[in-house]
Amino acid sequence: MAQKVLAEVKTGVTALRDRTGATPTLAVVLVGDFPASRIYIATKKKMAAEVGIASRDFLYPGGLSQPDLLALLRRLNADPAVHGILLQLPLPQECDEDEAIEAIAPLKDVDGFHPTNLGHLLAGTPTVIPCTPAGVMEILDHYGVELKGAEAVVVGRSRIVGKPLAQLLLARHATVTMCHTRTRDLAAHTRRAEVLCVAAGRPQVITGEMVREGAVVVDVGINRLESGKLVGDVEFDLVSKCARAITPVPGGVGPMTVAMLMKNTLQAARRHLGAV
Ligand code: GUN
Repeated sequence: MAQKVLAEVKTGVTALRDRTGATPTLAVVLVGDFPASRIYIATKKKMAAEVGIASRDFLYPGGLSQPDLLALLRRLNADPAVHGILLQLPLPQECDEDEAIEAIAPLKDVDGFHPTNLGHLLAGTPTVIPCTPAGVMEILDHYGVELKGAEAVVVGRSRIVGKPLAQLLLARHATVTMCHTRTRDLAAHTRRAEVLCVAAGRPQVITGEMVREGAVVVDVGINRLESGKLVGDVEFDLVSKCARAITPVPGGVGPMTVAMLMKNTLQAARRHLGAV
């Protein structure tokens, strides 16, 4: 599925270049040294190259002060050759994440994390849709999962996944329950789910007995165990026995996230070049 999205983006990039002479360009900003972020960025670079999107890296593994970060983002906002800005999260503790996200021009915010873009999603007038939730919706649609009237449960309430995903499901007329770390009886909720989306960031918190027979399970988590093994937030072996369908980790939602980032970057470039 990710390859299909990438192929469409590649065609779009070529068409845009033929029409305008411009190459869609994504600026990637990384502050601090987080192993997971390094992996994300490497995948993003690889996929950008594959579809013909230019990627400009601004990497500060040793850190960057908040004023310098804001100055960099303002410079990228003002640069007409940059169409999209990706500020890799998390930022080091000494940085103010909210302030940095708000400093990105909403039209260049390819992650859709700026309050203006999240507000549009809430208002029902979506602009840029955050990549991971957008990828989850693509997967559900590709497999024809019925959402209208369905019991959908989202575990996790992050700005990156849980909150925007709940809005997207709601917009498709699902009955949405949001669960999080303070939810009293998590299993009571997850057992009711026809569509269960898990973005808790905790290895294998969803076990076999927490899932309803025939449920569709989307596992957004990716965690490295001490053994070095990569696992999701769902116990795959047991849950896959009762689920109708389940996304694997790795190789499920992850590649879709990066493919949707490419799609958002192409969209941002089209808008900047007046080619929408
Ligand atoms: N960190 C984890 N996921 C993401 C993402 O989708 N975008 C950004 N910018 N940072 C992340």
